[in-house]
Amino acid sequence: MTHRSWFPATLPGERVVLRRHVPANLRVFQRWYADPAVVRLTRYQDSPMRPDEIERFFAARALGSDSLAMAIHLRDDDRLIGTCALSQLDADNGSALFHITIGEKDEWGHGYGTEATRLMIDHAFGGLGLHRVALSVFSFNERAVRSYRSVGFVVEGRAREAIWREGRWWDEISMSLLQSDWKARHERQTADAAIGVEEAPAEPTGVATPVEPATRRGAVMAGILGKRR
Ligand SMILES: CC(C)(COP(=O)(O)OP(=O)(O)OC[C@H]1O[C@@H](n2cnc3c(N)ncnc32)[C@H](O)[C@@H]1OP(=O)(O)O)[C@@H](O)C(=O)NCCC(=O)NCCS
Repeated sequence: MTHRSWFPATLPGERVVLRRHVPANLRVFQRWYADPAVVRLTRYQDSPMRPDEIERFFAARALGSDSLAMAIHLRDDDRLIGTCALSQLDADNGSALFHITIGEKDEWGHGYGTEATRLMIDHAFGGLGLHRVALSVFSFNERAVRSYRSVGFVVEGRAREAIWREGRWWDEISMSLLQSDWKARHERQTADAAIGVEEAPAEPTGVATPVEPATRRGAVMAGILGKRR
């Protein structure tokens, strides 16, 4: 794979490490995206993906150059437990969409997905200089909504009754995080750490704290994506 500095080889965290995908990861994708429990939370269609669909999805979303996709590994034993990505990277508007799937069900609820999300968001704003990251999530996916909130995402809208699942309609929730929110949060955390205050549970207000003007024009990303055109 050619070297792309904007696409890091690894993003190390405390308990997980994100690495670029390798072709051999297709094997676990085949298992994850054929699993009804994973499909229920991640797909509009309520049926598992076919092997050929998974292969195309993996080639485009995990290995392709149109998204910045990272495999999620546990630091302790290197187990590959999931995948996350920034897609639809838009240099003109400094925006991207975020996606994450912890495919190994026994690893749900241990904080690994939340840590991976935080690493990707830190890279999106701190590394790439993006202005905005958005995502959508089904309203019945409480764990995901809570996870995103704890990283700082706020709800900005709902597509009402967009999903039919388990005999009833559910909303699809749109959430986003701006660089200014992220920056303000970091500054608060750094200040708290300096005086020994523990981080309070996330209570997003939906109101961005004013900080310096968005850095989109000077963003690393604009240059990066410019080169990719
Ligand atoms: C959604 C996902 C990324 C969350 O990552 P995670 O590491 O498993 O989440 P966490 O363990 O940090 O839990 C997040 C929050 O949900 C809560 N939670 C855990 N299990 C829960 C459950 N079964 N129901 C409701 N809330 C739950 C946690 O207590 C935590 O809340 P808190 O921040 O208020 O303490 C991960 O579970 C996943 O990939 N799931 C399958 C695919 C999926 O849903 N993808 C997202 C599609 S939009």
